[in-house]
Amino acid sequence: MRLNGKIAIVTGAGRGIGRAIALQFAEEGAKVGVDDVNDALGTETVAAITDAGGEALFINADVSDAADAERLVTRTVETYGTVNILVNNAICSTADVLNNNWEANLAVALQGTSHCSNAVIPVMQAAGGGSIVNIASVNGLIGLQAIHAYSAAKGGVIALTRSMAVAHGKDNIRINCICPGTIQTEVWEPMIERNPQILDEITPWYPLGRIGQPMDIANAALFLASDEASFATGAVFVIDGGLTAGNHQFPI
Ligand SMILES: NC(=O)c1ccc[n+]([C@@H]2O[C@H](COP(=O)([O-])OP(=O)(O)OC[C@H]3O[C@@H](n4cnc5c(N)ncnc54)[C@H](O)[C@@H]3O)[C@@H](O)[C@H]2O)c1
Repeated sequence: MRLNGKIAIVTGAGRGIGRAIALQFAEEGAKVGVDDVNDALGTETVAAITDAGGEALFINADVSDAADAERLVTRTVETYGTVNILVNNAICSTADVLNNNWEANLAVALQGTSHCSNAVIPVMQAAGGGSIVNIASVNGLIGLQAIHAYSAAKGGVIALTRSMAVAHGKDNIRINCICPGTIQTEVWEPMIERNPQILDEITPWYPLGRIGQPMDIANAALFLASDEASFATGAVFVIDGGLTAGNHQFPI
């Protein structure tokens, strides 16, 4: 098992990519602090982990609140002794993304990443190191649609990843980010209501001929969290089926 004996926190782990990461980490031997603002979803993730024989604890903490982020880390340390891995995955609602709610996008995606990282760093320093994995997006790399606040927040997550990686290399704390392309999760449901064909219509953008699944990101997060990535820090790991490689082909 690749995370045997490790303690991890995954934010926004009640559903989607965060849940897949929490399940995957638990399957690989980690004890997981499952964070979400939705009690029902967070409890379901913990139940899925414990039903599979793993160990997890649900903590309702709003990552946009610095005091809540501190409480998330403190509760995890009180329960499991330390924190070796943090995955900053939480995102505001799809409505806030689509409506360019700047406050919500910056507060959850960008400041939330900073709050949780700042809370966990002293714990990782005391433990002699750790791994932080930030979930950014291809929207932080290329222009895709008019969700400017989300794109700017995700671009900020990439910059924050690099800046913090430089600051904490000396502490043996590795800080990397993942930029997923389209991943089939519940966030797409409001968009599917507007256009039931949306996922079929964007699939041809992808050189691999498919959109992604939560496990595609969970596998990348597992690698970055594990000792196999011991020389990786400040990296921007693009997991997007080739989207940002380009998909323009000469018509010959
Ligand atoms: N799904 C995609 O196509 C896609 C693509 C690129 C990047 N991403 C990124 O991957 C991550 C996960 O995406 P997803 O599709 O699984 O999202 P999701 O909306 O399905 O899950 C997000 C979870 O975060 C929780 N949450 C919301 N606000 C919170 C807060 N303030 N504090 C703690 N938890 C909070 C929600 O309750 C929810 O359970 C996000 O960072 C997202 O931007 C997703």
